[in-house]
Amino acid sequence: KVAPLTYDGKVAIVTGAGGGLGRAYSLLLARLGCAVVVNDLGGSATGQGSDSRAADKVVEEIRQAGGKAVANYDSVEDGDKVVETAIKAFGRVDIVVNNAGILRDKSFARMTDGDWDLVHRVHLRGTYKVTKAAWPHFLKQKYGRVINTASAVGLYGNFGQANYSAAKLGIVGLTKTLAIEGKKNNILVNVIAPNAGTRMTATVMPPEMVEAFKPEYVAPLIAFLGHESCPESGSIFEVGSGWIAKVRWQRSGGVGFSSSQPLLPEQIAKHWSDIVNFNDGRATHPTSTQEAFQQFMDNFANSAVSEPTKKEDGLDIEAA
Ligand code: NAI
Repeated sequence: KVAPLTYDGKVAIVTGAGGGLGRAYSLLLARLGCAVVVNDLGGSATGQGSDSRAADKVVEEIRQAGGKAVANYDSVEDGDKVVETAIKAFGRVDIVVNNAGILRDKSFARMTDGDWDLVHRVHLRGTYKVTKAAWPHFLKQKYGRVINTASAVGLYGNFGQANYSAAKLGIVGLTKTLAIEGKKNNILVNVIAPNAGTRMTATVMPPEMVEAFKPEYVAPLIAFLGHESCPESGSIFEVGSGWIAKVRWQRSGGVGFSSSQPLLPEQIAKHWSDIVNFNDGRATHPTSTQEAFQQFMDNFANSAVSEPTKKEDGLDIEAA
């Protein structure tokens, strides 16, 4: 038998919870006993306007089902007000799910400063502001769970989404650093790249797919990562359609040139296929900056003897 993951006595903030994924997270957390601040500005998918009805509807759904919830209508850019709502209503905050988001898709050539800035303000700065306001509470109680929202577009790129992909990968970097800073106070920080049929994806997914890719397939991962029993921090997960996987960096084995002789671009050209080779059994998966840096130190230490050197390369370079 598996013990149920209950949330009694815990308080979560879910941003952008008036619809789509955020709504599904809020409903599930509330069903597991968590008190939820349902934050939503209630604007359009491109970030225009505001409307309190989006958050109110979800709060109503939760209360009807016997759960505890309050609405907050502030933009995540005013993260302190969102956190204040949790403290006022429930006296604490344990979990922050940074989920609010908008799109301003345009080819890079046509993208304006406004498209760039607004997407960054909502996604990256919004994630920063809400988390920053919750952090002192987490430190004081030596407990906190943060689940951030990236996107496959941040991890892999996509035509027409330069602003969004940059903000989303920014959130991955923020996640990794906060996981390091939060560790000794039991503050765990992870990031997901979800796939779900919502208002946001209705413009790009066919209707059958929007219907099939239910946000309810993603919500259980939030309930796991937000739980006190969660062992994970600083990790990236792709999730959707009932499938969940972890994503990590991979670094090729690389080529160590001599650090005691000037390195020539021609040497790099000659060894390019080795530099970009992931299939020679030497690729690694560094999990920290320290671990990643070790390779540089090793190259200094070994390069007096390590090959290939310029001489060994036998390069005969024409005069430019
Ligand atoms: P959605 O459009 O249904 O939900 C986003 C919610 O955020 C909306 O209810 C909106 O009113 C709210 N919001 C927007 N700006 C806000 C602000 N400044 N302050 C507070 N609330 C604000 O979209 P969906 O699909 O549920 O997206 C949720 C998150 O998942 C977003 O961060 C999105 O970028 C991300 N995502 C979704 C994918 C998908 O397949 N649905 C794919 C990759 C990422």
